[in-house]
Amino acid sequence: MRAAFSWEKEAAVEELEVLMERIRERIEKMPAMNAVALELLRVTSGDGYSFQEVADILASDASLAARVLRLANSAYYGLPRRVESLGMAVSMIGVRALRRMVMNITTYDLLKVNLLGYGLEEGGLWAHSLAASLAAAELCDLIAYPHQEEMRLVGLLHDVGKVILSPFLEEAVEDREVLMAGGRTGLKLESELLGINHAEVGALIADRWNLSPRFEEILRCHHAPEESANLPRGTAIVNLADSMVRELIRSEEPFKAVMGLDRAALRILHLTEADLLPHLVSINSRILEEIRQWTGEVLEEDGAGEAPGGAEYRDEWEPLGWEEGDLRPGKGEGNRVL
Ligand SMILES: [Fe+2]
Ligand SMILES: [Fe+2]
Repeated sequence: MRAAFSWEKEAAVEELEVLMERIRERIEKMPAMNAVALELLRVTSGDGYSFQEVADILASDASLAARVLRLANSAYYGLPRRVESLGMAVSMIGVRALRRMVMNITTYDLLKVNLLGYGLEEGGLWAHSLAASLAAAELCDLIAYPHQEEMRLVGLLHDVGKVILSPFLEEAVEDREVLMAGGRTGLKLESELLGINHAEVGALIADRWNLSPRFEEILRCHHAPEESANLPRGTAIVNLADSMVRELIRSEEPFKAVMGLDRAALRILHLTEADLLPHLVSINSRILEEIRQWTGEVLEEDGAGEAPGGAEYRDEWEPLGWEEGDLRPGKGEGNRVL
Protein backbone atom coordinates (compact mmCIF):
# COMPACT_ATOMS: atom_id res chain seq x y z
CA MET A 1 0.00 0.00 0.00
CA ARG A 2 2.72 2.32 1.09
CA ALA A 3 4.89 1.40 -1.95
CA ALA A 4 1.99 2.14 -4.31
CA PHE A 5 1.48 5.52 -2.69
CA SER A 6 5.10 6.55 -3.07
CA TRP A 7 5.12 5.24 -6.66
CA GLU A 8 2.10 7.40 -7.41
CA LYS A 9 3.78 10.36 -5.79
CA GLU A 10 6.91 9.81 -7.83
CA ALA A 11 4.90 9.57 -11.04
CA ALA A 12 3.15 12.83 -10.19
CA VAL A 13 6.49 14.57 -9.56
CA GLU A 14 7.84 13.26 -12.88
CA GLU A 15 4.72 14.47 -14.65
CA LEU A 16 5.19 17.95 -13.18
CA GLU A 17 8.85 17.96 -14.24
CA VAL A 18 7.89 17.12 -17.83
CA LEU A 19 5.26 19.84 -17.73
CA MET A 20 7.78 22.35 -16.37
CA GLU A 21 10.13 21.51 -19.21
CA ARG A 22 7.35 22.18 -21.75
CA ILE A 23 6.51 25.46 -20.01
CA ARG A 24 10.17 26.53 -20.13
CA GLU A 25 10.33 25.68 -23.84
CA ARG A 26 7.27 27.83 -24.51
CA ILE A 27 8.84 30.75 -22.63
CA GLU A 28 11.99 30.33 -24.75
CA LYS A 29 9.94 30.47 -27.94
CA MET A 30 7.88 33.47 -26.91
CA PRO A 31 8.58 36.44 -29.18
CA ALA A 32 10.63 39.17 -27.54
CA MET A 33 9.19 42.61 -26.92
CA ASN A 34 9.59 44.85 -29.96
CA ALA A 35 13.20 46.11 -29.78
CA VAL A 36 12.40 49.45 -31.45
CA ALA A 37 9.63 50.10 -28.94
CA LEU A 38 11.98 49.29 -26.05
CA GLU A 39 14.63 51.60 -27.49
CA LEU A 40 12.04 54.38 -27.80
CA LEU A 41 10.98 53.89 -24.16
CA ARG A 42 14.63 53.90 -23.06
CA VAL A 43 15.61 57.05 -24.97
CA THR A 44 12.51 59.02 -23.97
CA SER A 45 12.77 58.12 -20.29
CA GLY A 46 15.53 60.73 -19.91
CA ASP A 47 15.62 64.37 -21.08
CA GLY A 48 18.40 64.46 -23.67
CA TYR A 49 16.55 63.58 -26.87
CA SER A 50 15.14 65.50 -29.83
CA PHE A 51 11.85 64.99 -31.71
CA GLN A 52 13.92 64.03 -34.76
CA GLU A 53 15.70 61.32 -32.78
CA VAL A 54 12.37 59.89 -31.64
CA ALA A 55 11.04 59.96 -35.23
CA ASP A 56 14.22 58.26 -36.50
CA ILE A 57 13.91 55.44 -33.95
CA LEU A 58 10.29 54.87 -34.99
CA ALA A 59 11.21 54.92 -38.68
CA SER A 60 13.52 51.95 -38.19
CA ASP A 61 10.46 49.68 -37.81
CA ALA A 62 8.25 50.20 -40.88
CA SER A 63 5.25 48.34 -39.56
CA LEU A 64 5.32 50.08 -36.16
CA ALA A 65 5.77 53.43 -37.94
CA ALA A 66 2.76 52.79 -40.19
CA ARG A 67 0.58 51.91 -37.21
CA VAL A 68 1.72 55.01 -35.32
CA LEU A 69 0.71 57.17 -38.29
CA ARG A 70 -2.65 55.42 -38.68
CA LEU A 71 -3.43 55.82 -34.95
CA ALA A 72 -2.20 59.42 -34.85
CA ASN A 73 -4.84 60.14 -37.50
CA SER A 74 -7.58 58.24 -35.69
CA ALA A 75 -10.50 59.79 -33.85
CA TYR A 76 -8.84 58.95 -30.51
CA TYR A 77 -6.34 61.82 -30.81
CA GLY A 78 -8.79 64.17 -32.56
CA LEU A 79 -6.02 66.23 -34.19
CA PRO A 80 -7.05 69.24 -36.27
CA ARG A 81 -4.65 68.45 -39.14
CA ARG A 82 -3.73 65.27 -40.97
CA VAL A 83 -0.47 63.79 -39.65
CA GLU A 84 1.72 63.12 -42.70
CA SER A 85 5.06 62.17 -41.14
CA LEU A 86 6.55 60.65 -38.00
CA GLY A 87 8.13 64.00 -37.13
CA MET A 88 4.68 65.60 -37.26
CA ALA A 89 3.26 62.75 -35.15
CA VAL A 90 5.86 63.33 -32.43
CA SER A 91 5.36 67.08 -32.31
CA MET A 92 1.55 67.01 -32.60
CA ILE A 93 0.67 64.30 -30.08
CA GLY A 94 3.70 64.78 -27.84
CA VAL A 95 6.33 62.34 -26.61
CA ARG A 96 4.42 61.21 -23.54
CA ALA A 97 1.29 60.25 -25.53
CA LEU A 98 3.47 58.66 -28.18
CA ARG A 99 5.20 56.49 -25.57
CA ARG A 100 1.82 55.29 -24.36
CA MET A 101 0.66 54.61 -27.89
CA VAL A 102 3.76 52.54 -28.64
CA MET A 103 3.41 50.67 -25.32
CA ASN A 104 -0.22 49.88 -26.13
CA ILE A 105 0.56 48.67 -29.66
CA THR A 106 3.52 46.55 -28.56
CA THR A 107 1.75 44.89 -25.66
CA TYR A 108 -1.34 44.37 -27.81
CA ASP A 109 0.76 42.26 -30.18
CA LEU A 110 1.92 40.10 -27.28
CA LEU A 111 -1.33 39.84 -25.33
CA LYS A 112 -4.04 39.78 -28.01
CA VAL A 113 -4.20 35.97 -28.29
CA ASN A 114 -7.22 34.18 -26.89
CA LEU A 115 -6.63 32.57 -23.51
CA LEU A 116 -9.13 29.76 -23.47
CA GLY A 117 -7.47 28.27 -20.37
CA TYR A 118 -8.73 31.38 -18.58
CA GLY A 119 -11.97 31.70 -20.55
CA LEU A 120 -10.80 34.85 -22.37
CA GLU A 121 -11.55 35.61 -26.03
CA GLU A 122 -9.01 37.24 -28.31
CA GLY A 123 -8.27 40.74 -27.06
CA GLY A 124 -9.71 40.02 -23.60
CA LEU A 125 -6.41 39.91 -21.69
CA TRP A 126 -5.17 43.00 -23.47
CA ALA A 127 -8.31 44.98 -22.59
CA HIS A 128 -7.97 43.89 -18.92
CA SER A 129 -4.29 44.87 -18.98
CA LEU A 130 -5.01 48.26 -20.54
CA ALA A 131 -7.61 48.91 -17.85
CA ALA A 132 -5.15 47.86 -15.11
CA SER A 133 -2.54 50.17 -16.60
CA LEU A 134 -4.95 53.14 -16.45
CA ALA A 135 -5.96 52.30 -12.90
CA ALA A 136 -2.28 52.02 -11.88
CA ALA A 137 -1.65 55.52 -13.27
CA GLU A 138 -4.64 56.85 -11.29
CA LEU A 139 -3.28 55.26 -8.09
CA CYS A 140 0.15 56.82 -8.73
CA ASP A 141 -1.55 60.23 -8.89
CA LEU A 142 -3.49 59.51 -5.73
CA ILE A 143 -0.45 58.67 -3.58
CA ALA A 144 2.07 60.82 -5.50
CA TYR A 145 4.13 57.78 -6.53
CA PRO A 146 6.94 59.03 -8.76
CA HIS A 147 7.23 56.19 -11.33
CA GLN A 148 3.93 56.54 -13.12
CA GLU A 149 5.15 55.69 -16.64
CA GLU A 150 6.85 52.53 -15.39
CA MET A 151 3.69 51.54 -13.54
CA ARG A 152 1.68 51.96 -16.75
CA LEU A 153 3.91 49.45 -18.51
CA VAL A 154 3.91 47.04 -15.57
CA GLY A 155 0.11 47.33 -15.53
CA LEU A 156 0.04 46.34 -19.20
CA LEU A 157 2.34 43.38 -18.65
CA HIS A 158 1.31 42.16 -15.18
CA ASP A 159 -0.50 39.05 -16.46
CA VAL A 160 1.83 38.23 -19.37
CA GLY A 161 2.53 34.85 -17.72
CA LYS A 162 -1.03 33.80 -18.57
CA VAL A 163 -0.14 33.79 -22.27
CA ILE A 164 2.30 30.96 -21.55
CA LEU A 165 0.14 28.99 -19.11
CA SER A 166 -3.23 29.17 -20.90
CA PRO A 167 -2.81 26.12 -23.20
CA PHE A 168 -1.50 24.02 -20.30
CA LEU A 169 -4.51 24.96 -18.23
CA GLU A 170 -6.80 24.07 -21.09
CA GLU A 171 -5.32 20.56 -20.87
CA ALA A 172 -5.44 20.33 -17.10
CA VAL A 173 -8.18 22.46 -15.65
CA GLU A 174 -11.45 21.15 -14.35
CA ASP A 175 -12.66 24.11 -12.37
CA ARG A 176 -12.35 26.97 -14.84
CA GLU A 177 -14.71 29.17 -12.84
CA VAL A 178 -12.21 29.38 -9.99
CA LEU A 179 -9.38 30.26 -12.34
CA MET A 180 -11.38 32.94 -14.13
CA ALA A 181 -12.15 34.57 -10.81
CA GLY A 182 -8.42 35.40 -10.73
CA GLY A 183 -6.60 36.52 -7.61
CA ARG A 184 -4.96 34.14 -5.21
CA THR A 185 -7.46 31.32 -5.64
CA GLY A 186 -6.67 31.04 -9.33
CA LEU A 187 -2.97 31.37 -8.56
CA LYS A 188 -3.07 28.46 -6.12
CA LEU A 189 -4.87 26.29 -8.62
CA GLU A 190 -2.27 27.09 -11.28
CA SER A 191 0.51 26.05 -8.88
CA GLU A 192 -1.28 22.84 -7.95
CA LEU A 193 -2.01 21.84 -11.52
CA LEU A 194 1.15 23.04 -13.25
CA GLY A 195 3.75 23.48 -10.51
CA ILE A 196 4.11 27.18 -11.33
CA ASN A 197 1.76 30.19 -11.45
CA HIS A 198 1.35 33.06 -13.93
CA ALA A 199 3.08 35.56 -11.60
CA GLU A 200 6.23 33.38 -11.46
CA VAL A 201 6.10 32.81 -15.22
CA GLY A 202 5.74 36.58 -15.73
CA ALA A 203 8.98 37.11 -13.76
CA LEU A 204 10.76 34.51 -15.93
CA ILE A 205 9.56 36.32 -19.08
CA ALA A 206 10.71 39.70 -17.73
CA ASP A 207 14.13 38.17 -17.11
CA ARG A 208 14.26 36.69 -20.61
CA TRP A 209 13.36 40.07 -22.12
CA ASN A 210 16.05 41.77 -20.02
CA LEU A 211 13.53 44.06 -18.36
CA SER A 212 14.75 45.63 -15.13
CA PRO A 213 14.80 43.60 -11.88
CA ARG A 214 12.10 46.02 -10.69
CA PHE A 215 9.72 44.64 -13.32
CA GLU A 216 10.64 41.11 -12.41
CA GLU A 217 9.90 41.63 -8.74
CA ILE A 218 6.58 43.40 -9.29
CA LEU A 219 5.39 40.76 -11.77
CA ARG A 220 6.38 37.93 -9.41
CA CYS A 221 4.66 39.49 -6.37
CA HIS A 222 1.64 41.17 -7.96
CA HIS A 223 -0.78 38.89 -6.11
CA ALA A 224 1.19 39.02 -2.83
CA PRO A 225 2.55 42.58 -2.42
CA GLU A 226 3.68 41.87 1.15
CA GLU A 227 6.25 39.45 -0.33
CA SER A 228 7.96 42.20 -2.33
CA ALA A 229 11.19 42.98 -0.46
CA ASN A 230 12.34 46.00 -2.49
CA LEU A 231 9.23 47.46 -4.14
CA PRO A 232 6.24 46.92 -1.88
CA ARG A 233 4.56 50.19 -2.93
CA GLY A 234 4.90 49.65 -6.67
CA THR A 235 3.75 46.05 -6.24
CA ALA A 236 0.78 47.14 -4.11
CA ILE A 237 -0.23 49.68 -6.78
CA VAL A 238 -0.29 47.01 -9.50
CA ASN A 239 -2.13 44.61 -7.18
CA LEU A 240 -4.84 47.16 -6.40
CA ALA A 241 -5.12 48.32 -10.02
CA ASP A 242 -5.60 44.70 -11.10
CA SER A 243 -8.26 43.93 -8.52
CA MET A 244 -10.01 47.29 -8.99
CA VAL A 245 -10.58 46.62 -12.69
CA ARG A 246 -11.56 43.01 -12.01
CA GLU A 247 -14.08 44.10 -9.39
CA LEU A 248 -15.45 46.81 -11.68
CA ILE A 249 -16.67 44.08 -14.02
CA ARG A 250 -17.76 41.69 -11.32
CA SER A 251 -19.50 43.75 -8.66
CA GLU A 252 -22.95 45.22 -8.91
CA GLU A 253 -22.16 48.16 -6.69
CA PRO A 254 -19.07 50.11 -5.64
CA PHE A 255 -19.21 49.05 -2.02
CA LYS A 256 -19.00 45.39 -2.96
CA ALA A 257 -16.16 46.20 -5.34
CA VAL A 258 -13.94 47.82 -2.70
CA MET A 259 -14.55 44.92 -0.35
CA GLY A 260 -12.78 42.68 -2.85
CA LEU A 261 -9.50 44.63 -2.67
CA ASP A 262 -6.37 43.17 -1.06
CA ARG A 263 -6.00 44.27 2.57
CA ALA A 264 -2.21 43.94 2.55
CA ALA A 265 -1.93 46.19 -0.52
CA LEU A 266 -4.14 48.83 1.11
CA ARG A 267 -2.05 48.69 4.27
CA ILE A 268 1.22 49.12 2.37
CA LEU A 269 -0.11 52.25 0.66
CA HIS A 270 -1.78 53.57 3.84
CA LEU A 271 -5.13 53.59 2.08
CA THR A 272 -8.57 52.46 3.17
CA GLU A 273 -11.42 51.07 1.10
CA ALA A 274 -13.20 54.37 1.65
CA ASP A 275 -10.27 56.29 0.11
CA LEU A 276 -10.57 54.27 -3.06
CA LEU A 277 -14.32 54.31 -3.41
CA PRO A 278 -14.64 57.63 -5.28
CA HIS A 279 -11.71 56.70 -7.54
CA LEU A 280 -13.27 53.38 -8.38
CA VAL A 281 -16.37 55.18 -9.55
CA SER A 282 -14.53 57.88 -11.49
CA ILE A 283 -12.19 55.49 -13.31
CA ASN A 284 -15.08 53.24 -14.27
CA SER A 285 -16.32 55.58 -16.98
CA ARG A 286 -12.80 56.62 -18.06
CA ILE A 287 -11.72 53.01 -18.46
CA LEU A 288 -14.87 52.19 -20.37
CA GLU A 289 -14.16 55.06 -22.75
CA GLU A 290 -10.51 54.04 -23.27
CA ILE A 291 -11.39 50.40 -23.82
CA ARG A 292 -13.98 51.43 -26.40
CA GLN A 293 -11.54 53.72 -28.18
CA TRP A 294 -8.59 51.36 -28.18
CA THR A 295 -10.50 48.21 -29.01
CA GLY A 296 -12.06 50.24 -31.82
CA GLU A 297 -8.82 51.73 -33.12
CA VAL A 298 -6.30 49.00 -32.40
CA LEU A 299 -8.28 45.78 -32.67
CA GLU A 300 -9.85 46.88 -35.94
CA GLU A 301 -6.77 46.60 -38.10
CA ASP A 302 -7.07 48.15 -41.55
CA GLY A 303 -9.57 46.24 -43.63
CA ALA A 304 -9.59 43.30 -41.24
CA GLY A 305 -12.83 44.22 -39.51
CA GLU A 306 -13.16 43.83 -35.81
CA ALA A 307 -10.98 41.24 -34.14
CA PRO A 308 -13.02 38.47 -32.55
CA GLY A 309 -13.60 39.00 -28.88
CA GLY A 310 -13.28 42.78 -28.96
CA ALA A 311 -17.00 43.45 -28.99
CA GLU A 312 -17.80 40.82 -26.37
CA TYR A 313 -15.17 42.18 -24.04
CA ARG A 314 -16.42 45.68 -24.54
CA ASP A 315 -19.90 44.51 -23.57
CA GLU A 316 -18.50 43.46 -20.22
CA TRP A 317 -17.41 47.03 -19.67
CA GLU A 318 -20.84 48.55 -20.08
CA PRO A 319 -21.48 51.00 -17.26
CA LEU A 320 -22.70 49.30 -14.15
CA GLY A 321 -25.38 51.89 -13.59
CA TRP A 322 -23.76 53.23 -10.45
CA GLU A 323 -25.15 56.54 -9.33
CA GLU A 324 -24.06 59.22 -6.92
CA GLY A 325 -26.52 57.83 -4.37
CA ASP A 326 -24.64 54.53 -4.35
CA LEU A 327 -21.80 56.31 -2.58
CA ARG A 328 -23.89 57.30 0.40
CA PRO A 329 -22.64 55.77 3.61
CA GLY A 330 -25.15 53.28 4.91
CA LYS A 331 -26.28 52.01 1.56
CA GLY A 332 -25.97 48.28 1.06
CA GLU A 333 -22.58 46.86 1.89
CA GLY A 334 -21.43 50.37 2.71
CA ASN A 335 -21.96 49.97 6.42
CA ARG A 336 -19.00 47.68 6.50
CA VAL A 337 -16.73 50.04 4.61
CA LEU A 338 -17.15 53.51 6.02
FE1 LIG B 1 -2.36 38.27 -12.20
FE1 LIG C 1 -4.78 40.82 -13.89
